[in-house]
Amino acid sequence: MSVVEEIKERLDIVEIISAYVPLRKAGSVYKGLCPFHQEKTPSFVVYPDRGAWHCFGACGTGGDVFSFVMKRDNLDFREALEVLAQKAGVDLAPPSAARSQHDQTLDRLREINQAAAVWFHHQLRQTPQGETARDYLLGRGFDDATLDRFLLGYAPDRWDGLLAYLRSKNYEPADLLAAGLVIEREQAEPGRSPFYDRFRHRIMVPIRDLHGHAIGFGARSLRSDQQPKYLNTPQTVLFEKSHVLYGLDAARRAIRPRGKVIIVEGYMDVLACHQAGEENVVASMGTALTEAQIKQLRRYTSTIVLALDADAAGQAATLRGLTQARDALDREWVPVLTPTGLVRHEARLAVDLRVMTLPQGQDPDDVVRADVNQWREFVNNAQPVVDYYFALARNELDLSTAQGKSAAVDRLAPLILEVSDEVKRAHYTQQLARLIQTDERSMERLLLKRRPTAPPAPRPQPAPLAVWEEAEEIDLPTSYTPPPARPARAGQAARPAAPTSSAGHCLTLLVLHPDLLPDLQAELVALGASPLDDDDFNRADERAICAALVSGAFDDDQWPGMTAAEASLLAQLQAAGQRLPALARDQLLEDMLRAVLRLRIGNLKTQAKALPALTRSAREEGQSDEVRSYQQLQQSLSQHLRLLEQILNQRTFAGRRQMTTNA
Ligand code: UTP
Ligand code: MN
Repeated sequence: MSVVEEIKERLDIVEIISAYVPLRKAGSVYKGLCPFHQEKTPSFVVYPDRGAWHCFGACGTGGDVFSFVMKRDNLDFREALEVLAQKAGVDLAPPSAARSQHDQTLDRLREINQAAAVWFHHQLRQTPQGETARDYLLGRGFDDATLDRFLLGYAPDRWDGLLAYLRSKNYEPADLLAAGLVIEREQAEPGRSPFYDRFRHRIMVPIRDLHGHAIGFGARSLRSDQQPKYLNTPQTVLFEKSHVLYGLDAARRAIRPRGKVIIVEGYMDVLACHQAGEENVVASMGTALTEAQIKQLRRYTSTIVLALDADAAGQAATLRGLTQARDALDREWVPVLTPTGLVRHEARLAVDLRVMTLPQGQDPDDVVRADVNQWREFVNNAQPVVDYYFALARNELDLSTAQGKSAAVDRLAPLILEVSDEVKRAHYTQQLARLIQTDERSMERLLLKRRPTAPPAPRPQPAPLAVWEEAEEIDLPTSYTPPPARPARAGQAARPAAPTSSAGHCLTLLVLHPDLLPDLQAELVALGASPLDDDDFNRADERAICAALVSGAFDDDQWPGMTAAEASLLAQLQAAGQRLPALARDQLLEDMLRAVLRLRIGNLKTQAKALPALTRSAREEGQSDEVRSYQQLQQSLSQHLRLLEQILNQRTFAGRRQMTTNA
């Protein structure tokens, strides 16, 4: 359970709000005068069972306990969190002294790396000593724009170039050491600095985090006697090579529209691709793919293409890397009906992993520079990883022997079992049968036997779009109450449940396609509905994401002042989004519009539910004015509801009609 959920669970929303607003019980809800606008009859309602509040009056807004405190005391989310955590007796683990010191160290190391990157860049672009490096890069076809965009630089051929500069800027040698930029001499020499520059006479490639801050460097040699060819920043508290993907800061915006990301091996490959306009390319920096890297990419796409040169493609090390990558990929547990009528859960890969093989002796750098269309063709012809393994098995195993056959099944069966598309799975089953010269029936039996005997309990997974829409019961509360926390299995952290509500679906679509928001708003207004805003959402984190989107502050996957709780919801939404089918722009817009309508219908229905109780209690109290105003409200809510339902039904009908015409 997240802290936010824990706080909500412990606090009684009625008690919290009563501290500001006198509340009276009306049936299963509480009512009071809205604290956010002047009114005489109470239109402010608190729903204790859902932990929500709503103002039926002039505000027309609502939310959870967090948004109430935020609005009432004009706090941001973090501040509200502190206030409520204290009330709930939940330990927020306030940044301990050690923690905040660690954060400060990271900030300082980031600052130092960035200062170094700028200085190296200046050496490359502006100084005579940078000429060799400049000529080298221009000779390789890189233009000035690329040098600037990637902040490429040059480390002069000196022992104290960067060191002297950063010392003059009052950075401490100990910090430069921690940043990996200088090395400490083994033996102190009188009259000499105990430190010297790590990078000398090299092309400097700053490795940047998602926000574009330099956190380390890859440094290419300029002379053949310099070893190694690429010298990288050592592991530091800031720089963990196996977690970083080079170029992701520049590539992330291109990945979603292109629908895939290509992973190459080298820095130069990334630079060449981006310069050629192929911006959905990142580099793994010569190491096997890691889980951390794949997880990052999954936020943007579920199609990952590995560019391998012909040598690497055949190598055992590459195969190991791929296996590792595959192991890291998330599985979807799908229910499968067995012949005996039992439901079994089977693992299916949730990622489309492909391999593109480049001609012998050619880097992506060479290919893309020679002909960018050729590059695109290679990308488009990338093989599904299963085909790639088949090809490898054919090349490497002697399939005329029993041993070879058995090895082929060992290698390929687990892959085939995980193919999610049934037709494709049948195809591969056939292919494997042919490969080892057996009949399909026997192969199917063989594969069946290899299924995991005791399937692990299905992990909670957001349902795909279709299920989402079908399963949604509109008169459920709009904003989902977090499902009861599942007991975490031993050794397995409970996964946060992804949003499966209208609100969640709506936001998922929006964070994936923020560019469609203006069209969506225009469409809503054209239909006589109001544009989407944060008041359509109840949870504070949902409201924050919506507000960032609507105000234009949302920048791909962040916005100024984003909190950890909001970032975590955003990551969930993005991951859920990767499971949605790819749709054309028009269909997407239609889907968004329907999601908003459903969201609002759900909201109105929940609100309307409270009204009979409110009316009854007002009647019992003899407040005839109140009774009348609730009745009016009831009427206008019903009207509004009918309108939205009408629009939704028409849209659904139009959608169907279109599909029939197309068919
Ligand atoms: P390559 O040797 O293929 O580099 O190593 P490259 O990008 O093609 O370099 P150019 O084209 O000769 O300039 C691929 C990647 O492996 C890592 C680097 O990240 C490099 O980009 N590598 C390679 C190292 O970290 N150290 C090395 O000594 C060599
Ligand atoms: Mn190369």
